[in-house]
Amino acid sequence: MQINGKEYRTVWFDSGQVLMIDQNKIPHEFALKEYSTYQEVATAIREMTVRGAPAIGAAGAFGMALAALAAPDHKFRAHLRHARQELISTRPTAIDLSIGVQYVYESALKFIPDLPHARQVAVLAAGEFANKSAEDCLELGWIGAELIQPGARILTHCNAGALATVDHGTALSVIRCAHKQGKNIFVYVAETRPRLQGARLTAFELEQEGIPHAIITDSAGGFYFWKKEIDLVITGADRICLNGDIANKIGTYEKAVLAHAHKRPFYVAAPDSTFDLSCAKGEDIPIEIRSETEIKRINGKDIANPGSPALNPAFDITPAKYITGIITPKGVFSPQKAAQRIQS
Ligand code: MRU
Repeated sequence: MQINGKEYRTVWFDSGQVLMIDQNKIPHEFALKEYSTYQEVATAIREMTVRGAPAIGAAGAFGMALAALAAPDHKFRAHLRHARQELISTRPTAIDLSIGVQYVYESALKFIPDLPHARQVAVLAAGEFANKSAEDCLELGWIGAELIQPGARILTHCNAGALATVDHGTALSVIRCAHKQGKNIFVYVAETRPRLQGARLTAFELEQEGIPHAIITDSAGGFYFWKKEIDLVITGADRICLNGDIANKIGTYEKAVLAHAHKRPFYVAAPDSTFDLSCAKGEDIPIEIRSETEIKRINGKDIANPGSPALNPAFDITPAKYITGIITPKGVFSPQKAAQRIQS
């Protein structure tokens, strides 16, 4: 992605360090973070310095590479097992994280007892995982762009952009490609309370690319459907089940129901790493519950009644019946067929 005219990935590995764009600072500041231990990478994922399903998948993979480089010879396997557990436990909903971590773990273990080689393989496997994720996202962008009519007005939720992935994005990759095709699109960006990934990150990315857009409050979506100003919805996903149910940022479900009620298509865009073939249905997806402080405080200032508790689920489930199609690197599929295609 281009930021201030320079090409960046969201997360990458260089000279024994994991580097990432600090997403808690955007749009007000652009800063990079560097980590040399897997424990630091785990903290960065938990605190959402890096966030978005494919991006945390790559961060987890690179974290495992750091773990392999630091693992003592006499307990190489145990050290990697411990790192795997610590990295995966940082955020429970996005399956990409487990898939990235597990890929590096298994790749390195194949080369025991040649430990120098196993360490080298861990670094290579993490890079390979990240590259594949970026390629998938570009591929699905061009495939999804074929669904976009000239002049389309698109609603998106959260940040499913380059920042949420290694590069290009998922929903935003489709939007970027349609814009590059000169389709004259307009994007409604739901602000995405409480962490404002839409208002901060999606709006930032769209502005960098010169894509016409406006931020709306999460509750304004219904109004713009009612005004017939939304032609379709595209979001990303944090996990896609075998039956086509998906988990994505809290508030996605109500956008899908609105689209259904107004007879507008609702698309989900995702790379292969977001499919969980061991998960039968939405009810089986663990939903991350975050701190109530995220709801009750903004910029360190209390905004809610101090004595009231707040509930903060980070994701919700959208049932397959509300999803028109899943945009993948291999084509657009019905929600039920999208996962089965990988299985077969
Ligand atoms: O809590 P976040 O910011 O990690 O949530 C991110 C999302 O919900 C995205 O929509 C999702 O990861 C898919 S986009 C690549």
